[in-house]
Amino acid sequence: MPEPRAPTSAPDPAPLMALSTAHWGAQVLLTANRLGLFGLLADAACGADELAKALSTEPRATRLLLNACVGLGLLAADRDRYGLSPLAAAYLVPGRPGYLGDAFRYSDDLYTAWGRLGEALASGHPVVAAADYTGGEAERTRHFVYGMHNRALGIGGALLSLVDLGERRRLLDVGGGPGTYAALFARRHADLRATVLDLPGVAEIGVEIVAAMGVGDRVHHQSGDYKTTAFPVGHDAVLISGVFHRETEAGCRDLINRAAAALAPGGLLIVSDVFTDAGGAEPVFAALFGLNMLLTADDGGVHADADVVQWCSDAGFTRVQRCSFPPPMPHRVVTGVRS
Ligand SMILES: C[S@@+](CC[C@H](N)C(=O)[O-])C[C@H]1O[C@@H](n2cnc3c(N)ncnc32)[C@H](O)[C@@H]1O
Repeated sequence: MPEPRAPTSAPDPAPLMALSTAHWGAQVLLTANRLGLFGLLADAACGADELAKALSTEPRATRLLLNACVGLGLLAADRDRYGLSPLAAAYLVPGRPGYLGDAFRYSDDLYTAWGRLGEALASGHPVVAAADYTGGEAERTRHFVYGMHNRALGIGGALLSLVDLGERRRLLDVGGGPGTYAALFARRHADLRATVLDLPGVAEIGVEIVAAMGVGDRVHHQSGDYKTTAFPVGHDAVLISGVFHRETEAGCRDLINRAAAALAPGGLLIVSDVFTDAGGAEPVFAALFGLNMLLTADDGGVHADADVVQWCSDAGFTRVQRCSFPPPMPHRVVTGVRS
């Protein structure tokens, strides 16, 4: 009879076990998404062999993937047939309003980069060239831009409800990518016009996105580099969303100062991004996001919202406020009025 173990105060190792295999589940989702599995099941459940045929995959391997999807809550199994779970039906079927599959294609593109985290830590530099997905490689750029669009459509309502433009109707969206936020503002205000400044390869795709959103006549993309292109004047609101995580403090301060210079008194600055609390470790998604940006952008990282508030005040913005998107959205927004 073995000696009973003395009670120990050591913590449960289960969180470590789950973390060390978290990439298994991620890869099931990303691979199924890439293969087009969820679209195939949009209208009806299917058997494993039928699915293997449609996906051009090996039947035994396919059944393993399907069962893993069931276990992860992506599919539901009924006898030998597999159908979509409510989660997959809501977010993983191309063409549906809540579709997030393009955003997951972008995560998929970055999967191998995460395997090289050690290299980025040693060098302090990204392991993929940001230019690849901002115009350099056509397919990656489309995944990136449509991924931003999916995400912005999902959370844009929250941004619009947190930001009151007042009477302002000329919006400059710096690093606006697809232009989705500008288009959502334009849909809300029939007399709003917006300029979306972004790199040429991204702007080109953005033009087709805002046109498909029905506001191509009022939301215009302007190709340029926000570090060097003079901000176009004549705007009374400047949105800088999802940009600060690619920039150092000096880069962020420069963008804030140039926004201040481009705005007339009373103009509104809106800075939206994933930010951490002071200290940088919380929320954990934001801390991880900083590493994701380290891997993918020259000056990538994450900032604390309290710092952004300070930078806006230093640039002469008044009534500087910050607020958080409703959970589980990780974004926060800082606004200030040009004095
Ligand atoms: C994470 S995305 C954010 C897009 C959009 N504002 C949003 O919040 O969904 C960052 C954007 O900055 C753009 N960008 C990066 N470097 C840039 C530069 N030097 N000049 C202009 N745009 C740039 C990228 O092409 C991309 O569209």
